[in-house]
Amino acid sequence: MRILVTAGPTRESIDPVRFISNRSTGRMGYAVARAAVEMGHDVSLISGPVSISAPEGVDITKIVTAADMLDAVVSKIPWCDALVMSAAVSDWHPEMYTPRKMKKGNTEIDLKLVPTQDILRAIMDMKEDRIYVGFAAETEDLEENAGRKLKEKNLDLIVANDISQSGAGFEVDTNIVTFITDDNVVESFPLLKKSMVGKRIIEWIEMRAKQS
Ligand code: CTP
Repeated sequence: MRILVTAGPTRESIDPVRFISNRSTGRMGYAVARAAVEMGHDVSLISGPVSISAPEGVDITKIVTAADMLDAVVSKIPWCDALVMSAAVSDWHPEMYTPRKMKKGNTEIDLKLVPTQDILRAIMDMKEDRIYVGFAAETEDLEENAGRKLKEKNLDLIVANDISQSGAGFEVDTNIVTFITDDNVVESFPLLKKSMVGKRIIEWIEMRAKQS
């Protein structure tokens, strides 16, 4: 299969030296991409700025902002049979970009943030018979919030993780995830290495592809 994976954070610039971003290191998405290559698939990875290297055999596109990631995903969707959207896309960007470094002075500043586009929503109409997998990063009401995202974003599978649990979410090599599917199957996994979570996701995609 041809599998498109997104990973890492995005960065939204305030001025030439400052940006807003999030804690994503890219490890979860890179683990999905590595598992997919190891399981014999063609893999294209769209990655925000991270400090880890891309798995061998993966075609990588590097982007910086949420808008760049949207453009890259839109242009790759026609190529893929399945998408795994594990990137932690910034939900806001500064309204204004100041091309010169902002000088500190001694005054408060107001930073106005405006919403970025939701990538999964933007590509809903391009789905056809492709398999779309999303992630949900939650700190409360895991199944309820993830189940809502699954429906609203028209996904086949959502991989929910409670990022407040130790050993789960950002900046660790492990994760604690629950799979929720469009046919209402809920499967909770124990603490697993991200490499194993990646493998489980690709196995699920293979199984779903066989059914259709
Ligand atoms: N996502 C996306 N575009 C965005 C933000 C998120 O496509 N601008 C994707 C993520 O890659 C993930 C899914 O949507 O697969 C859910 O992301 P998450 O951050 O959990 O939820 P949000 O939809 O951003 O909602 P909230 O932050 O309110 O929980």
